Amino acid sequence: MVADITTLDVDAIVNAANSSLMGGGGVDGAIHRAAGPELLEACRPLGGCPTGEARMTPGFALPAKWVIHAVGPVWRGGKSGEAQLLRSAYRASFRLAREHGVKTIAFPAISTGVYAYPKDAAAAIAVDEMRAHADAFDRIIACCFSEADADGYRRHLEPAAP
Ligand code: AR6
Repeated sequence: MVADITTLDVDAIVNAANSSLMGGGGVDGAIHRAAGPELLEACRPLGGCPTGEARMTPGFALPAKWVIHAVGPVWRGGKSGEAQLLRSAYRASFRLAREHGVKTIAFPAISTGVYAYPKDAAAAIAVDEMRAHADAFDRIIACCFSEADADGYRRHLEPAAP
């Protein structure tokens, strides 16, 4: 769907964070603004998060009960393990969500903004991981920020052409 992820009434939204977990621009900035200053105070004691991993906090003023802060890779040309790290960020998010009984979850397009991961390649990984985890959730949302981005996801959701 196309939406501002901070508005979604789901059990958990995923944040495209950086390894400091101390906020930033893009979707991270929007989530911190909407959740309120308590979110930063909840992140501070976590002591950061390595790339490819995720950490969980309450959602505070957000409609979502939880925020899962996932750290995707910076795109460095594709030969620095970016694909494995992006996949790992999705898997770590799903693992935390399952451990906390999350049934509805929304993801932004991790790494495809400031971190410059090519959108189509990132969407392929995102859709693949969402499919792999579909059975454990009532609803998994790919929350895109533009129609063009959503079209990119839809292409990966369609069955392969004969
Ligand atoms: N709702 C949904 N998607 C959004 C929103 C929103 N409110 N705002 C932006 N997007 P980015 P990254 C989309 O740059 O590439 C931060 O400074 C955006 O269009 O937010 O993983 C962090 O602190 C894009 O498709 O995250 C890190 O330092 C996607 O979210 C760094 O940026 C991700 O773009 C992380 O970079």
